[in-house]
Amino acid sequence: MAAPAAIGSGNGDRIVGGHAASPGEYPAQGYLEINTGSELARCGGTLLDARHFLTAAHCVVDDLEASYPPSAFHVGLNNIEVGPSMDVFGVTNVDVHSSYDGLLHLNDLAMLTLDRPAPYTPLRIVRSDETAIWAPGTTATIVGWGRTSPGGPVSDTLLEATAPIRADNDCGVYSNAFDPNTMVCAGNGATDTCQGDSGGPLMVPYGGVLVLVGVTSWGNGCADPRFPGLYARLGGALNQWVMQRHAWASFSVVTPAHSGQPVRLEASWFQPLGIGPLNTPGWDLDGDGDYDDTPVPVPAAGPIFPSGGAFTVGFQVSSPDGTRVAYRRVIVVNGTPTAVAGGVNGYSVREGGSVLLTASGTDPEGQALSYSWDLDGNGAFEISGQTTSFSALHLDGPTTRAVVLRVCDSAGACATSSATARVRNAPPRANAGRDRRVKRGRKVRFFVRASDPGRDRLRASWRIAGRSKRGSRVTHVFKRPGLYVVRVTVTDGDGGKTTDRVRVRVRR
Ligand code: ARG
Repeated sequence: MAAPAAIGSGNGDRIVGGHAASPGEYPAQGYLEINTGSELARCGGTLLDARHFLTAAHCVVDDLEASYPPSAFHVGLNNIEVGPSMDVFGVTNVDVHSSYDGLLHLNDLAMLTLDRPAPYTPLRIVRSDETAIWAPGTTATIVGWGRTSPGGPVSDTLLEATAPIRADNDCGVYSNAFDPNTMVCAGNGATDTCQGDSGGPLMVPYGGVLVLVGVTSWGNGCADPRFPGLYARLGGALNQWVMQRHAWASFSVVTPAHSGQPVRLEASWFQPLGIGPLNTPGWDLDGDGDYDDTPVPVPAAGPIFPSGGAFTVGFQVSSPDGTRVAYRRVIVVNGTPTAVAGGVNGYSVREGGSVLLTASGTDPEGQALSYSWDLDGNGAFEISGQTTSFSALHLDGPTTRAVVLRVCDSAGACATSSATARVRNAPPRANAGRDRRVKRGRKVRFFVRASDPGRDRLRASWRIAGRSKRGSRVTHVFKRPGLYVVRVTVTDGDGGKTTDRVRVRVRR
């Protein structure tokens, strides 16, 4: 590729407000040389896959908006210096957006097909749902070999600068000429793209790499604080057009991502004619930039993130011809709450009684927690509340029951904790009735009313005037007058005993 005759020097190494890029810093950045028949014009462009080079429509058409033939174009890659040391590609196809309007700068996009695969890392374009990554105020990066001042010389060294993405309202100075459907503006007058930078990228950092959000298109002057630079807006109406014209990789998060649980990621990719076959997929699950995290099933991955937080995950597909397209995105993993169903010693309750169960839980994100309990071991958590009462009304102690607590955060991540409720035996209740006055020699009937909270079979044994008797009903004949204390002991099946007594005064 021939270096253009006019090499900028007046402004030193300044794009408007920029500085020289480092070799290899922008591997997708290409120099587009256009032979218009009367001169060699310059533009920029971005490699989206091994064969597809995105640039501005106005770079590839003549004054009548007819595109130049493919032979009019050369694309130089792999060098920040314009000149013969670039890796130069021919162009086999020029695809201009069919709704490109040169007068209004609408839909200012064209896709060039390179005559052989370019083995350089391409850039991916923003997805239409990724508006947050290029929201107004985001610091974007612009690069190019264009003019270093309005009307000034171009730069043969690739220059880079940052420029803030501006709100659509800030482009109001252009009034109707600004079309928010197909344009986005950037820059505050300190830095800007300028003539010769067109077709090049407006990029934002995301997932550890840069993502293409705009294509340098037009502006009033360069770096004029009143007039931001204007870029073809890739995150909106133009997104589809670009996505249908280059190879790309993507993945979605199928289930909400919770820590400690496999996060289901499902990859997909697109392969236009002339690319591929894209047959080698790979994941970067540890965020180190290498797509070598195996073994995980491809195209679905199920990594487990031990704790919550934001993690960068990447997916890439490649082909034997060197095509590689990658997609990186940040996954927000919801931290799982903690659950504690009670103290270390669990709970203790007497049979027939009840005990208050108290849950505690924490959430790493401080989300609201809901508590529910499985008290009967059926696996269903039908009782909700941070505290609940566990009843041992129909339980025969000593025994133990497992109670399980489930704590869920508002994102749907749950933790369980089980505790043991020890049911202690309670002695039976026994009532031998009132004291008596009887005559000696008469048959006296005794009866004990007894019940047991554990519903055990009960046995009653009596001690009457030195004699032992069994049964809930007994009789006795007192032969001698005096004061007797009759004792009855009621015993449950677990050794719980209760004694009651009646006084008997025996007269002559
Ligand atoms: N149309 C110009 C080109 O062909 C790009 C102008 C960008 N202007 C600006 N103020 N940002 O290179």
